[in-house]
Amino acid sequence: MGLSFYVRFRHLLPVLVCLVTILVFQSYWKTFSLLDLSSRFIGNNVTLQSNYSFQYEVENHEKEIHNFNQKILLDDSTQKVREFDEKHNIQHQRKGFPSKGTKGLNADWSIYHDNVKKSSNGSGIQSMEIDPQNKEKPQLLKTSLLGSSITMQPTSLTRLYSQLIQSFNSSSRKPKSSSQRDRELLAAKIEIENANVLLKSSGLHAPVYREVSKFSRSYELMERKLKVYIYREGEKPIFHQPKMRGIYASEGWFMKLMEGNKRFIVKDPKKAHLFYLPFSSQMLRANLSDNKKMEQYLDKYVNIIAGKYRFWNRTGGADHFLVACHDWASRITRQPMKNCIRSLCNANVAKGFQIGKDTTLPATYIHSVMNPLRKIAGKHPSERTILAFFAGSMHGYLRPILLKHWENKEPDMKIFGAMARDAEGKRIYMDYMNSSKYCICARGYEVYSPRIVEAIFSECVPVIISDNYVPPFFEVLKWEAFSVFVRERDVPNLRSILLSITEEKYLALHLGVKKVQQHFLWHKVPVKYDLFHMILHSIWNNRLSHIRLK
Ligand SMILES: *[C@@H]1O[C@H](CO)[C@@H](O)[C@H](O)[C@H]1NC(C)=O
Ligand SMILES: *[C@@H]1O[C@H](CO)[C@@H](O)[C@H](O)[C@H]1NC(C)=O
Ligand SMILES: *[C@@H]1O[C@H](CO)[C@@H](O)[C@H](O)[C@H]1NC(C)=O
Ligand SMILES: *[C@@H]1O[C@H](CO)[C@@H](O)[C@H](O)[C@H]1NC(C)=O
Ligand SMILES: *[C@@H]1O[C@H](CO)[C@@H](O)[C@H](O)[C@H]1NC(C)=O
Ligand SMILES: *[C@@H]1O[C@H](CO)[C@@H](O)[C@H](O)[C@H]1NC(C)=O
Ligand SMILES: *[C@@H]1O[C@H](CO)[C@@H](O)[C@H](O)[C@H]1NC(C)=O
Repeated sequence: MGLSFYVRFRHLLPVLVCLVTILVFQSYWKTFSLLDLSSRFIGNNVTLQSNYSFQYEVENHEKEIHNFNQKILLDDSTQKVREFDEKHNIQHQRKGFPSKGTKGLNADWSIYHDNVKKSSNGSGIQSMEIDPQNKEKPQLLKTSLLGSSITMQPTSLTRLYSQLIQSFNSSSRKPKSSSQRDRELLAAKIEIENANVLLKSSGLHAPVYREVSKFSRSYELMERKLKVYIYREGEKPIFHQPKMRGIYASEGWFMKLMEGNKRFIVKDPKKAHLFYLPFSSQMLRANLSDNKKMEQYLDKYVNIIAGKYRFWNRTGGADHFLVACHDWASRITRQPMKNCIRSLCNANVAKGFQIGKDTTLPATYIHSVMNPLRKIAGKHPSERTILAFFAGSMHGYLRPILLKHWENKEPDMKIFGAMARDAEGKRIYMDYMNSSKYCICARGYEVYSPRIVEAIFSECVPVIISDNYVPPFFEVLKWEAFSVFVRERDVPNLRSILLSITEEKYLALHLGVKKVQQHFLWHKVPVKYDLFHMILHSIWNNRLSHIRLK
């Protein structure tokens, strides 16, 4: 099967490349869906990370948290699971599953479902040919563009990137008055735009960046110039009390390292380019019962800040930022902090994440506060004998579909449900991460997963199956250089897509994974290019991109 696929693929490739090129240039911004077509063939190039014991706790947490949340918030994913279950008679272990519907049923569910039915076989060959679905796409997309809605089509990297460029190109609202700080930012922006030559000393691996010279210059300027003010207001435990462990630990680590930072913090807010709102979405969730109350709480806080200082009103919050990892953070900050730069784990463009303004916070499961920096190592590519690995609980609508197509289907596809949570299970899991070429990071209830960072740590090329998810540091990292993105509808073609990636390309992806590891590591004392700095850089980057003078 592999060979015949390969032959057909090679025959088709030149034709497809031409076709795609023509179509793309014909319809440029309007019809990105055609680019998606090309990425289906190449496998939509994606990436991920890690430590086995991490993973286990993650699974526990997700389940616990979501069971708890279901009663209160019936969101799109829950709706999708229920529909999927009804149509496929799937039973799952979760109890207390809500029975009645919610608003906002995603259009991409039905698209997704149609496609699963149409491409029924695992070979993926039929769906690699130009099928009638693709003819319908431009029309679908047109409507969605007009209505400025992005939920009509599952999103690929290519389209996300186009949205990003559009966002940076769109004019944002001007501040009520200009400030010396804005002028400094504008000067930095001009300097970055003119950065063409990479400083040799940077040591960065160019292929994993969109524009390595710009990133390098931007990073240096951030280190030299950026000043951040942290509001003192806000009571513990919701404010100023970082939680350093668990699945939402990214927000806690950032808060801790930011509040303790010497280089970036200023005591005088007049000297600041950016203003940090230091709350924990996890503590907010733990302290208040429902998301309406959480939203009101934040609203009150914003009123205090806006009444007491003049900075909020000057830009409407556009130079303010928050860093929040809880699933609900996007929802509860959408109104009170709508202009702020939000660094969010749940970076779902179909649920209010604004690409270009908001930025993706990587979810990192922290097991040990004393030692956030795990030993990062994986087997050499030649020792990775398994093509693809996944194990996890059946959270969300997608994973049951993944298992339906791939559990016990092919010897090189190790696709499982939840594994035993004992020491032996953990060892097996770690062995798989270590011995696989590709680690499948399929969305759960929400689009993000700590698996991405875990795969990167274990040097397993991440395969992200999560439509509408914007990967971390998307503004600067070229994810297609160290990961593979597969659309949800292409689960039936997963194996063909992975097999179509040449050994040479795989080795490049693997090398890319090793080169980006430094960006996903927490250090108790931050070091250059580490996770703390990358999060701050993504915020700085988005602020610069939208800076306007009066
Ligand atoms: C995937 O990688 C190939 C080879 O590097 C590249 O030509 C192609 O444009 C990439 N596809 C996407 C969708 O980025
Ligand atoms: C799917 O592929 C298998 C071989 O891999 C074949 O036996 C089967 O008939 C195919 N089913 C469909 C629906 O094409
Ligand atoms: C950005 O905007 C300028 C002028 O508004 C336009 O000429 C240019 O084509 C735009 N670029 C992109 C990538 O949209
Ligand atoms: C957090 O919850 C406790 C009780 O659970 C309550 O007394 C306290 O006021 C809450 N804190 C905030 C800031 O809401
Ligand atoms: C900012 O605007 C709000 C609402 O318009 C107002 O209540 C507040 O007093 C303003 N803040 C300052 C410092 O002027
Ligand atoms: C994973 O974490 C455990 C402790 O929790 C540690 O003993 C082990 O060495 C770690 N493995 C890797 C690959 O980092
Ligand atoms: C993964 O492989 C590397 C290299 O062979 C080895 O050092 C490491 O201990 C392995 N980790 C696990 C968890 O098996």
